[in-house]
Amino acid sequence: MSNVPIEPDSSRPVFAIVIVAAGSGERLGYGMPKAKVPLGGEPMLVHALRVAAASGVARKIYVAVPRGDEELRRICAGAAEALPEGSPTVSCVDGGATRSDSVRSVLGQLDAGITAVLVHDAARALTPDSVFHRVAHAIRQGAKAVIPAIPVVDTVKTVASSESADAAVAPEIVVGTTPRERLRAVQTPQGFDLATLREAHHAAGLFTDAQAAAVTDDAMLVESLGIPVHVVPGSAHSLKITTPTDLLIAEALLAGPRAPRWVEG
Ligand code: CTP
Ligand code: MG
Repeated sequence: MSNVPIEPDSSRPVFAIVIVAAGSGERLGYGMPKAKVPLGGEPMLVHALRVAAASGVARKIYVAVPRGDEELRRICAGAAEALPEGSPTVSCVDGGATRSDSVRSVLGQLDAGITAVLVHDAARALTPDSVFHRVAHAIRQGAKAVIPAIPVVDTVKTVASSESADAAVAPEIVVGTTPRERLRAVQTPQGFDLATLREAHHAAGLFTDAQAAAVTDDAMLVESLGIPVHVVPGSAHSLKITTPTDLLIAEALLAGPRAPRWVEG
């Protein structure tokens, strides 16, 4: 037998999952952060944390909550304690004013040794394990950035405000139609090599307010660096619970024929 010590495999990424849960949930209209809104009788964050932990991908999970929201911190700590033995440790940190700010806040607090990050919306509380696995696999294969996405079922058009004469007819007018075959609806978790995500967020930290407001995911920031963003299949069950209709759909999925944990794609 060889006495050569076994070194950790430095070529394999060490993942953290970042769950952003620091939004206010305006569009859902519950008057509270969405992460606290019940889904199947439990706060949405509890579902998101459980699925992220069960994926087995991450060494550690960070949850960004609204600054000063002690109740959500308690929910997070309680959910972390209830995870099965051997689950990743969970840290709850203050988020920021925008989703990007929340991600940046976590990036400033990551443990040494983490080399890759999956950024996940707490609002995608029902994302199947398989999506975490596909994203992590692509990072292990050498991708610097990976997003899960699904085909768009609607025809999508770009519009502009109607000029004065047309405005009497309708408020907007079509200016283009992108072929639907090439359109994808993008989900989370989005996976990144940590150095790449840091570089992207460093650049975004210097944006004007208008530029910052236009940023809706992390992949956009990586795209602007000219780094390829790879696409793997997402899942219909990974819908972002944004409106009351989405919450109804999520409740139905949770209570559906293969409840409590069906897995689709
Ligand atoms: N998020 C965050 N910090 C913010 C804003 C959003 O961590 N300052 C998180 C949300 O908690 C959510 C995810 O980013 O999990 C996606 O954002 P969205 O669906 O827009 O959630 P909210 O911003 O909470 O909802 P709304 O825009 O309707 O207020
Ligand atoms: Mg929002």
